[in-house]
Amino acid sequence: MAQGTIKVNPPPPQPIMAPPGKSVKYKGVKHTLLIMSGKGGVGKSTVAVNLSVSLAKKGFSVGLVDADINGPDDPKMLGVSDMKLYADESGIVPVKTEYGVRVISMAFMLPTEDTAVIWRGALRHKAVQQFLEDVSWQDTDYVLIDFPPGTGDEALTVSQLVPDSDGVIIVITPQEVALQDAKKAISFARQMHLDVLGVIENMSGFICPHCGKNVDIFKSGGGERIAKEMGVQFLGRIPIYPDVVEMADMGIPAVIRNSNMMEHFGSISEKIIAQLKKDQH
Ligand SMILES: Nc1ncnc2c1ncn2[C@@H]1O[C@H](COP(=O)(O)OP(=O)(O)OP(=O)(O)O)[C@@H](O)[C@H]1O
Ligand SMILES: [Mg+2]
Repeated sequence: MAQGTIKVNPPPPQPIMAPPGKSVKYKGVKHTLLIMSGKGGVGKSTVAVNLSVSLAKKGFSVGLVDADINGPDDPKMLGVSDMKLYADESGIVPVKTEYGVRVISMAFMLPTEDTAVIWRGALRHKAVQQFLEDVSWQDTDYVLIDFPPGTGDEALTVSQLVPDSDGVIIVITPQEVALQDAKKAISFARQMHLDVLGVIENMSGFICPHCGKNVDIFKSGGGERIAKEMGVQFLGRIPIYPDVVEMADMGIPAVIRNSNMMEHFGSISEKIIAQLKKDQH
């Protein structure tokens, strides 16, 4: 390099474009909703499970795809972690839960709950593809897809496998650093040409069980601000409830026993149904 020349950064990579993809809905599925986040541990699986159960309680036929191959949590949260899969002439049969939701997950293929899946990307890709294409979802109103954490390679793969979903629901937590990741998730979805149906602010405050006062552990309200800034719908806030963790560990979806959770998810599912109806016209 000649003396005095300024070294410049290489140009930014081209935005990721969605591949042409198939333009058929998964056989027998009316709506596909993707549950995504900019980072891990914000409550995607909690939202995916409870939103599924809430839709099923409204009388819809609902399927849940646990697309997190490395950390498949949905069967445990639905109390079916000891089930195994089988196939019939129509395809792989998803596991029925007592909450009206059928679920498919890597967890059903592991010998024990503690077994780690040490698979390279291509194999994980193949597994998710089978969950979407080879499962018999006959006459399902909603299939929800619980994404792996973040906006990396895994999330990209799953998005590419579902080229005509109805859109993405982004789960965020209200800390400043997490909000930055939330913006990234929204922009990721847009670059993938996915509609963003809205954002849910989870772990938004904590109602003290003793005095009933709200404590904003991670601050709150940031989700609404981000939604406004990014021009997407704000679907609702879900506070921290200690029994959400306990119930998830016991395999009972929180909306079954916690009336506040039932109300939050009742209202969130109404907004999503309304948004989908609007999009169809
Ligand atoms: N509103 C809430 N109140 C209390 N606990 C919650 C709430 N939401 C989620 N949790 C708990 O936080 C933990 C992480 O939630 P969850 O597994 O749903 O996150 P995730 O985004 O799916 O994580 P990962 O990125 O690892 O898949 C779980 O133990 C869950 O029970
Ligand atoms: Mg999860």
